[in-house]
Order: sequence, then structure tokens, then C-alpha cells
Amino acid sequence: MSSKTVLRSLGYERYVIDSKLSYLKPIQTKSHQSFADEISHGLKQEPKSINPKFFYDEKGSELFEKICRLPEYYLTRTEIEILKKLNKDFTEHFSDEIRLIELGSGSSNKTRLLLDILDSFQDKIEYFPIDISEIIKESSKELQEDYDNLHITSIIDTYERGLEFIKNFDSGQNLIAFLGSSFGNFSPAEGLEFLHKINSTMKEGDLFLIGLDLIKEKKILEDAYDDSQGVTAQFNLNVLSRINNELDGDFDLSNFVHHAKYNEEKQRIEMYLRSVEKQSVSIHKANLSLNFEKDELIHTENSYKYSIPQIKQMLHSTNFKIHNIWQDQNQHYVLVLASKLE
Ligand SMILES: C[S@@+](CC[C@H](N)C(=O)[O-])C[C@H]1O[C@@H](n2cnc3c(N)ncnc32)[C@H](O)[C@@H]1O
Repeated sequence: MSSKTVLRSLGYERYVIDSKLSYLKPIQTKSHQSFADEISHGLKQEPKSINPKFFYDEKGSELFEKICRLPEYYLTRTEIEILKKLNKDFTEHFSDEIRLIELGSGSSNKTRLLLDILDSFQDKIEYFPIDISEIIKESSKELQEDYDNLHITSIIDTYERGLEFIKNFDSGQNLIAFLGSSFGNFSPAEGLEFLHKINSTMKEGDLFLIGLDLIKEKKILEDAYDDSQGVTAQFNLNVLSRINNELDGDFDLSNFVHHAKYNEEKQRIEMYLRSVEKQSVSIHKANLSLNFEKDELIHTENSYKYSIPQIKQMLHSTNFKIHNIWQDQNQHYVLVLASKLE
């Protein structure tokens, strides 16, 4: 089969920008249909919910970048602090031709620290960012300007479908990075299923680098998801604008407010949008009419926090061998390097 046929059989179209940069996008109608279907499914549940992957339209991705720079959002600067400390104990498992696959790469800012490491011993660097947001078009172009020897294939799709592509790609060594504690959006059962999925994508010699947020004082956690400038509130509310724009909805944003709290028993930050009054909303392209009671909540995100023994248990039970666990000096966050247990 030609590579074009393989791409189409996986549901992708390739857009070549130049010899070092191309994008793979799923065939359009499929992804649009699933946005309407998934929104409709989530908002018919009790309690109503919206999957956090829908936060990231262009505006949502921009707002997330702003969140990363907030003083309260310790996660980004802490992960960067750990990435900057990686050295020989990280690279000792690398072949000369290891390539970087990144799940939920976003702006690819932290990626630069990993690319710098690869750049120090490779003539040609290969990078496959996988992100549901179109932001990767812009971030890939910016990376290309700064790294002459970088070859990028950006996959604009969900983690799962991107991994399916990688699994069918070739036999080269992969470093799969999943940064930003994005894994924390999965429920414990979904998380284990996802780790199995990553493990089954990996070959002997492949590596998995994951950033996870640790359990800590409630105030630090709640401030990180409810900042004093209200940027996280804008980020949360933006998902309603996105539904209005793309699915012809009529949410009145002034009738909803951001709410974030730490659930100690479940070890997770829970984010909601609260309806400030009794109201009705229609989403025409999803054939949906909704009624909200005063104070009714839409659940928009969970962000799980972990202990180190829990992280070890999750990875061991999904067939991973842990090589290293690095922490920041305040023990707020970890980066874990693992490979597939043979
Ligand atoms: C919390 S941000 C993290 C961005 C970056 N990795 C960092 O650490 O700052 C999550 C990123 O994952 C992407 N994303 C969220 N859910 C996704 C999914 N199900 N499939 C693919 N990408 C997803 C978003 O578009 C966003 O860029």
C-alpha cells in the first residue's frame, strides 16, 4: 500500500508545508460529527458534563498558555525545573536515532528542553506532536524556525488515534512524552486503560516520560485552579463560547460562573460551571434543548493528584518498568521515565 493509502485507511489527510513539516488531520466530517455527538451525550448526563478535551479551540489554547504563566499555577514552572535537571540518567536509554512523540503538546514550550537534549547528539531530530488543538500548526512553525535539523509531523487528533498512527508507523525507537499532568484528567479506570494503550503502542526499547502532579495542601491546589486574575474562569467559560460558535448554541455566558474545589477523598480538583439562575439553552447543531436549575453544575474537568506509591502501582500494574522518578525541591510534582516490561 502507498503511504497515502495507509493514511486514508487510518482516516487522515496529509498537508505538506515543506520537506521538514507536515500535518496529519482526520477527514473533516468525522471529527465535526463527534464534537456535536459528544457534547450532546455529556449534557444529557446527570450531572451534566463536558469532556475537558473540548476546552482547546484557538481561544482556549491561548488562555491555557496564560494559565501556565500565572503565579498560582505552579505545575508548569515546576515541571520545567525538573526537565532542566535531566541529564545522563535520562539519556542513557537513548539510541542515536530516538524520536520524540508528544501527547497533548500544546505550545510545545517545554518540548524545547527535550529537543535541546536530542539536539546535543543527533544530526536530525524527528518530532511527532499529537494534539487535538490547531495550536500545533503555530507551535510547529515556531519550533522549525529555531531548530534547523528538526523534522516535524504534527498529528491534529486525539491522543488515542495519534497513538494508533504511531503504532503502525515503523520500527524506530520512540520516546513518548506526556507532560503537564494532562494524564490527571482521566478517571482512575480511564487512566489505567490509557496506560495499557500506551504500553501496547510501545516496542522493546521505547521509553515513556510522564509528568504527574502530587497530592499537596488544599489551598495551593485550589488557588492553582481558581486564580486571582480570573484567567482559569475565562478558560472554563470559553467552552460555552465554543459550543455557541461551532454548534450554534445560545449559552449566555453571564449566566454561568466558574467553580473549582479539591475533593480530598477522590484526590482530585473538580471544575464546574454553575448556572446562576433557572434557564433554558438550545444547541441547534446538536439537536439539544436543555433546562438548568439555579445553582445546577456542569462538570467540566477533573485533575487527579497522586502519591508516589500510587504512581508506582499504576505503572507496574499496566506492564511498565520504572527507570527513574525525578521530583522538584518542594516535592510538588514528578517526572517518571519508564519502559515496557518484557
Ligand atoms: C493541559 S494542556 C498541556 C499542554 C502542554 N503539554 C503543557 O504541558 O503545558 C493539554 C493539551 O492537550 C491537548 N488535549 C487535551 N485533550 C486531548 C485529547 N483527548 N487528545 C489530544 N489532545 C488533547 C490540548 O489541546 C492541550 O494542548
